[in-house]
Amino acid sequence: MKTIIVYYSKTGHTQDAAGDIAAGMKKNQITPDIRNCREIKFRDLSDYDLILVGSPCHAGSTAPLLSGIARPLERFLKSIPPGLLRDKKAAAFSVHAGLGAKNTVASLEKLLKRTGAVLVSSPGPAVRAGAPLSLWRGPDYSPGDRDKLQRFGSEITRKR
Ligand SMILES: Cc1cc2nc3c(=O)[nH]c(=O)nc-3n(C[C@H](O)[C@H](O)[C@H](O)COP(=O)(O)O)c2cc1C
Repeated sequence: MKTIIVYYSKTGHTQDAAGDIAAGMKKNQITPDIRNCREIKFRDLSDYDLILVGSPCHAGSTAPLLSGIARPLERFLKSIPPGLLRDKKAAAFSVHAGLGAKNTVASLEKLLKRTGAVLVSSPGPAVRAGAPLSLWRGPDYSPGDRDKLQRFGSEITRKR
């Protein structure tokens, strides 16, 4: 199963989460490509069977007024023509400093559904790391959250 994790990260925590999810996938002999959304185009996604998207929570508690998704990733997801990812599997995750990541996950999943992809684990994990407003890199994940991310990676790549 060819897999990619597409993320945006300002201070590195969401990138770390992608690494933990990838570690979980490796238990099933799957090594995902991990790409910042600024490095790829939507057409690149056609190579993959399973697509994960991860965003830091940006103003997630204001949803549904705002999506809570970081702008570059939201732009990337909105650039995907509706229906283009039909028959592909997808899932989402988000990181917050304290509040709102569940809303961000819900917004990401809504944009994934619009692409035609089938959500394989919903709702995806919302974990805690970082500083409010990301003015600097904040505290790292708790061991419990790292475990949650690794289990998520393992569960969605387990053969059904
Ligand atoms: C513009 C902006 C808005 C944010 N809004 C929230 C928020 O609503 N709730 C929250 O808990 N953290 C919020 N944060 C903090 C980030 O979600 C948190 O620091 C996260 O760990 C950053 O991930 P990153 O290191 O991958 O960029 C916000 C950060 C920025 C830059």
